[in-house]
Amino acid sequence: MSSSLLTCNDLHVGFTLENEFVEAVRGVTFSIDEQATLGIVGESGCGKSMTALALMRLVPEPPGKISGGRIRFRETDLLALPPQQIRMIRGKEISMIFQDPMTSLNPVYTCRHQIKEVILQHGITPVDQADGLIESILAEVGIPEPKRTADSYPHQLSGGMRQRVMIAMALVGNPALLIADEPTTALDVTVQSKILDLLLDLQEKKRMSMLLITHNLGIVGDIAHDVMVMYAGMVMEYAPSTVLFDEPLHPYTVNLLETLPGIDTRKERLTIIPGEVPTLRNIPSGCPFHPRCSRSMPRCAIDSPPLLDRGNSHTVRCLLYE
Ligand SMILES: Nc1ncnc2c1ncn2[C@@H]1O[C@H](COP(=O)(O)OP(=O)(O)OP(=O)(O)O)[C@@H](O)[C@H]1O
Ligand SMILES: [Mg+2]
Repeated sequence: MSSSLLTCNDLHVGFTLENEFVEAVRGVTFSIDEQATLGIVGESGCGKSMTALALMRLVPEPPGKISGGRIRFRETDLLALPPQQIRMIRGKEISMIFQDPMTSLNPVYTCRHQIKEVILQHGITPVDQADGLIESILAEVGIPEPKRTADSYPHQLSGGMRQRVMIAMALVGNPALLIADEPTTALDVTVQSKILDLLLDLQEKKRMSMLLITHNLGIVGDIAHDVMVMYAGMVMEYAPSTVLFDEPLHPYTVNLLETLPGIDTRKERLTIIPGEVPTLRNIPSGCPFHPRCSRSMPRCAIDSPPLLDRGNSHTVRCLLYE
């Protein structure tokens, strides 16, 4: 359970905007153990998706670029692989699902056609067994009429069903790592919890690792073993999820927890974090969160806090703990 499947070290990803290279991911380090789930949490624009896309080598280039770091998957250095070899890993060893199934599903082909393409591309089964596999994977993701759904076009399905088809397509090659980028954000609440339950079940059954990206810390608490909180392209706090929920240290994490709807669901959002996420070209000096931080001290505007080790595999980037 505790050997690492993927390690990402000091990852930097940026964009060239009007001739200036600006960083969206600024030195991110994490690892994902075999069969474990890491949650990445943070507000919009903090670099969650760019981190995930870098693992798949899918950063849009140009204007984007992975400008530094090392990503090791098993024994392979992913950033050093030629494009042809990364294509063999992508969709087979590492799969990704997105918030909007229509970014993964092509509206002009049936679901069967699209899943078959993945099967054939990676040689997952011989051609004559592909249909059987397609129907069994659709059944496995909880689709009641696999045969009929296989022959449907994506637009003929409900949002929840499309999400299930996308999950089936991601899982058909038995990936060791599934990256789920806001997999339920576009769905209504009841469908959301069903899809999350499905992901949890599948993760256990298939013994895969998962990287779950969300802005909702509540979801992460239920699913992830470890949580990484990001802000302005940096890791602000990183801990096993039980530790993080018991003892959140960074004022940003505390704020994120406060924005979770409480037991009293009649109140929608209890608080929101005042201020705005900085844009890439206007990242504040010192701690990037200091202008919004309720516990900010004068030196927070000047000194960049290092990631401090607090024991219990808990690290935090905040001068309060120096
Ligand atoms: N194609 C692009 N060109 C320029 N900047 C981009 C591009 N894609 C993303 N960015 C910028 O990179 C930063 C990180 O974006 P990213 O998509 O990783 O955020 P995120 O944490 O996934 O946010 P969200 O929760 O909204 O999905 C943002 O400031 C975003 O504006
Ligand atoms: Mg995103």
